[in-house]
Amino acid sequence: MKIFTTRHELQQYLQQCRQNGETIGLVPTMGALHEGHLSLLALARQQCSISVCSIFVNPTQFTNASDLQNYPRPIEADIAKLTAAGCDVLFNPSVNEMYAANEQWHIDLGQLEHLLEGEFRPGHYQGVTQVVFKLFDIVKPDLAFFGQKDYQQVLVITKMVQLLNLPVKLVMVPISREAEGLAMSSRNIHLSADDRLHALVLSKALRHVTENFNGSNLQKVTAEAIEMINAEPGVKLEYFEVADGETLLPATEANTHLVALTAAQVGKTRLIDNMIIR
Ligand code: PAJ
Repeated sequence: MKIFTTRHELQQYLQQCRQNGETIGLVPTMGALHEGHLSLLALARQQCSISVCSIFVNPTQFTNASDLQNYPRPIEADIAKLTAAGCDVLFNPSVNEMYAANEQWHIDLGQLEHLLEGEFRPGHYQGVTQVVFKLFDIVKPDLAFFGQKDYQQVLVITKMVQLLNLPVKLVMVPISREAEGLAMSSRNIHLSADDRLHALVLSKALRHVTENFNGSNLQKVTAEAIEMINAEPGVKLEYFEVADGETLLPATEANTHLVALTAAQVGKTRLIDNMIIR
């Protein structure tokens, strides 16, 4: 695996690849890699001739200084995982390589950035779009792979690509879960053994909705799911909503695309999860 820490060297290398007729698949990550990240990489390797993974803990998308400071950064283990998984290129830049001092700009994403995650993490999607725009500009991928785990993030990036006419195709990859149902996340390492047990209620509640929705009982199954989460010790619910799968506005049975999304504080860790209903 080739490892680059500067934009210039990566761009030079990829330009050569493009001239040789290679197609480029990008998997943006913040590291602390797990099976979920590697499933994105596996798809990138299948669908493109060169796979590029970026590892960059992007400061501008953190809304909490201690969350940024405590974010896991096991770079040696990550390099070993990427090498074993057959990744072609790792881009692992420093903050100074990605941002100028006092850089301030944003993309108007409309109401999408104020709903759900946007409400609880104001400014988060401005940081995400800043860094993903820069990564697209540097790597110029044919395809870019994002996880359904961050469903709203996929919609935000889709909107950015549409607004700016970016020449990249996005691929959304299903959520990788642990055997008991917990969605894999780099933040799961912060969960205590008890937290892990309590956290299972999130995927259980989402499954309750997907399995018991019969086309006309959305309010009932949603209320039951919320009750399940509220009854779980150690779990503080932030939101549980059934939303339109394309706009994330609150939905009813009349909507064609329905997705259930939730976020909760489990112990000291904030977790998110979602399931597509239809
Ligand atoms: P990160 O949380 O490291 O996630 C990187 C990618 O892996 C995202 O597209 C995310 O949705 C996907 N992913 C995470 N857990 C997953 C799981 N259990 N199953 C499937 N995919 C999963 O998301 C980010 O980083 C950042 O916001 C980033 C896009 C890199 C911009 O900084």
